[in-house]
Amino acid sequence: MEHGSAADEARSRPEGGASAAPDTPEPALMPGRTGTGRAHAKVILFGEHAVVHGQPAIAFPMRKIGLQATAEAVPGELGLTVDIYDGPLAHAPAKLGSLVTTVESTLDLLHHPLRGVHVTCTGDIPLERGLGSSAAGASSIVNALADLTGTDLDERTRYELVQTGERVAHGSPSGLDAYTVVTERPIWFQAGRVEDLRVELSAPLVVADSGRPGDTHSAVGAVGEIRRSDPEQAAAYFETIRRHTVAAREDLAQDRAGSLGEHLDAVHETLRALSVSCTELDRLVAAAREAGALGAKLTGGGRGGCIIALARDLEHAPVLARALEEAGATQTWTIRPEEFTA
Ligand code: PMV
Repeated sequence: MEHGSAADEARSRPEGGASAAPDTPEPALMPGRTGTGRAHAKVILFGEHAVVHGQPAIAFPMRKIGLQATAEAVPGELGLTVDIYDGPLAHAPAKLGSLVTTVESTLDLLHHPLRGVHVTCTGDIPLERGLGSSAAGASSIVNALADLTGTDLDERTRYELVQTGERVAHGSPSGLDAYTVVTERPIWFQAGRVEDLRVELSAPLVVADSGRPGDTHSAVGAVGEIRRSDPEQAAAYFETIRRHTVAAREDLAQDRAGSLGEHLDAVHETLRALSVSCTELDRLVAAAREAGALGAKLTGGGRGGCIIALARDLEHAPVLARALEEAGATQTWTIRPEEFTA
């Protein structure tokens, strides 16, 4: 925060404001005042898709990539600048509907009028790759608007605001993405409830981008369709994913990397059966296994996006990353054990 508190400025304003229309509250903030916020990416280890249907999931924050937002008090209407748009919030393309909703819901909650702020969001989370870019964008903006108005929002409130936007993006989001980008901890998430996870894993994870944009909306729809047309089969897939997720929780706590890798492999096969993988993801998973990964699977909504692979140790991680790049990955990131919980 750059200047005095919002309350101070509101008190120092002349009575009635400058030239506000009678039914439009005058923004309380001095033009030029700026708030900032950041949010990191996330990676889902277990439970994507099944979590939409009430099963548990495990997700880690991925702090090495993130999005930064600034919210600046300006005269006039609400504005938005992101990589694909620069202009009035009201005219933002439908693709940005979730961010627009988050900005409006957050200003409402902060009792700020829907004008007088320009929001800018930039960063290095690739879009539509299952790494939580839409939730992280929303989360960084919530943080910037809270900072601008000098308000402390607790984790649950920030989650609810991000989730309001995610509902516009995905229709029926489980809330897993929204929670993982507002928290600093690895989480166990089920039906909107969150538990901290004990993570003692000493093997690093390599995340690899297939370069093909994912399609969470259509993948979630396809899984819903399997559930409608063959409920028994869908229940069996969800139960398989649940069993591996529960077992993986113990493996993470006990540093059993070999067993954890087997669960990753098994869940990838179930996600394939649920029709949410694609040739590019399968190719990367196969390349990871060939290069000696302890296990690998797609992460996030699928049909494009990223895979995660468990390396044997820190020396193995760059070897694995190179093999994935040779197999077509456009980008790789290594998450070291100390980054899981730091
Ligand atoms: O693709 P992403 O990063 O939006 O992850 C989606 C995770 C799903 O389980 C497929 C959907 C959800 O709402 O949890």
